[in-house]
Amino acid sequence: MTTRRLVLTRSAAVIGAASSGLLLPQIVRAQSDKLRVGFMLPYTGTFAALGVAIENGFRMALNEQGGKLGGREIEFFNVDDESNPAKGVENATKLVQRDKVDVLVGTVHSGVQMGIHRVARESGVLNLIPNAGVHIATRAQCAPNVYRTSFTNSQPTLALGKPMVERGHKKAVWITWNYAAGDEAYEGFEKSYTEAGGQIIKKLGVPFPNVEFQALLTEIAALKPDAVACFFAGGGAAKFLRDYHAAGLSKTIQLYGSGFLTEGVLDAAGDAANGVLTTMHYSDSLDTPRNKKFRLDYAKTFKLQPDVYAVQGYDAGQLLIKGANAVKGDFGNKKALYAAMDGAEIDSPRGKWKMSPAHNPIQDFYLRKVENKENKVIGIAGKAVSDSGAGCRMA
Ligand code: PHB
Repeated sequence: MTTRRLVLTRSAAVIGAASSGLLLPQIVRAQSDKLRVGFMLPYTGTFAALGVAIENGFRMALNEQGGKLGGREIEFFNVDDESNPAKGVENATKLVQRDKVDVLVGTVHSGVQMGIHRVARESGVLNLIPNAGVHIATRAQCAPNVYRTSFTNSQPTLALGKPMVERGHKKAVWITWNYAAGDEAYEGFEKSYTEAGGQIIKKLGVPFPNVEFQALLTEIAALKPDAVACFFAGGGAAKFLRDYHAAGLSKTIQLYGSGFLTEGVLDAAGDAANGVLTTMHYSDSLDTPRNKKFRLDYAKTFKLQPDVYAVQGYDAGQLLIKGANAVKGDFGNKKALYAAMDGAEIDSPRGKWKMSPAHNPIQDFYLRKVENKENKVIGIAGKAVSDSGAGCRMA
């Protein structure tokens, strides 16, 4: 039997990584009594509700398994990353070095993700990305210990261009926050919209997380496009929807977006969100027993309506459960742990999905319309869409 003393000695064990030129030592964890799960998520700022939904979903998946992972009890740790990229490395290091987590679940913001990514690659600690879509994490810098259960930033907008043109909206203005997620969402939009025959007449942006939209809305009114397409999320998305409506634009210029625009904000946006069209890998109205049960259980447990972020957190929990069960809680057995996660089929409220070789979901995309505070499916915008994974070579 392992004594507590032995466990502590083993927990502290690290092997040097000087020869590989890494900044942080690769960490070898003991199979101590409790599995240590660290959440690095935004709990304040414009993405605060997203962080909460992800943690709720993750915990719900684990609770469905009796609150254990591969038979082991779990200890949780939390760091509020504030969606602040400048503190990304420091915050991730706190969880990995100080709290000695076996798995780091995070985060939402693509810039902060790059800090986590550096720490995950250097330490070898398992990282589950429950939202941030930054391309490079599952492309040129993919890693065996990094798994994403959400999307890449261009995936939703790659499904957006065609339905816009099909609706006769051939001249569009693009507007977003100027940072990785907005830039990469634009990449997907530009490709799908121009290939479908659309023309982007202007690209507009504000720095993250600014919500001073007035001057840009005035400019849009003057440009008179057929449509506006955008990437915003969280509190900023609710404000954009309200401002767009208040400026009178929702009557004359159809608003489109990647689906984050209308996730978790439908109460806050009220009537301003009605009729907005988006593409996303989830919809509240998916008429499957799996989604209905998930929505009911989540609402009962958390007294909140679930959204795509809750689903992505839930699926991160489901993925970890598959891995943990395969190795009976022995996270030191990385080969078998990762093999089980690589091959997992996730029975998600969004529909079943599998990991691409670069560790990003291969999934369906829906065209949705907001009606009475619900994202209703009105069509399929893409089947089994896989990110290119360009440049990914698993070590
Ligand atoms: C991101 O920064 O990658 C991001 C943030 C919020 C979203 C989607 C993507 O809703």
